[in-house]
Amino acid sequence: MNDDNKTDHNDNQLSEEDKALLLDHNYDGIQELDYPLPRWWLVTFWGAILFSIPYFIYFVFMNGPSLNDSYNMDVKEIKKLQHNYFKELAIFKPEVYASISQTPEMVDFGEKLFVQNCTPCHGPNAEGYIGPNLTDGYWMYSEGTPETVYPFVLMGAPAAGMPAWADKLSEDEVYAVISYVMTIQGREQVNPKIPQGEFFPSERLPEPRTLPSE
Ligand code: HEC
Repeated sequence: MNDDNKTDHNDNQLSEEDKALLLDHNYDGIQELDYPLPRWWLVTFWGAILFSIPYFIYFVFMNGPSLNDSYNMDVKEIKKLQHNYFKELAIFKPEVYASISQTPEMVDFGEKLFVQNCTPCHGPNAEGYIGPNLTDGYWMYSEGTPETVYPFVLMGAPAAGMPAWADKLSEDEVYAVISYVMTIQGREQVNPKIPQGEFFPSERLPEPRTLPSE
């Protein structure tokens, strides 16, 4: 009985509430109920529209940061972090340097590292090539002492062609390579690069040997 009712009189299936929501149109018997949109949907919809107004004003009329700007700000932030990291790393530890520079095997190891990593630019005898002579006592970036050379080797001068070694050599390797560089101060050179920077006397090189030529 009930089944008959359903097929014969569609309207009878609807509750009174639904009947009130029934829309006028009727496509070959297919009708539509005008249910209200879910609240969560409406909140998101109107929320997005409301949000877009100040967003549009801020970014279009008030010079809000563009994607490029925020990228650059992030890069700046990263550089700052990196800089602080290097600064911390660049603190010279005299005890560590002393123990490495006083161990002949470590100085030999430093020479190997120098041949592998530094001679392509500083020349086979460190007499200077693309980079400056590292044996003449003239220094642009340091005073030629282990503690002043150390932070420079870590950070380099990438824009001028001297790589930063902080991420290529370990801390001990940097100490070892510097220990070696200190042993070759005053080395006789056949064809040295002209001195660059200022002369800083050292134990092995108390007087300047080569004078800057014009
Ligand atoms: C790709 C080339 C290149 C390599 C490799 C390189 N250097 Fe340099 N280095 C340079 C250049 C170029 C300069 C000078 C930068 C300038 O003129 O401002 C320099 C400068 C230096 C200075 C400063 C000299 C001064 O007058 O104050 C030191 C110290 C130094 N390098 C050590 C090293 C050591 C140690 C290594 C190996 C671990 C090394 N360099 C590898 C190119 C290089």
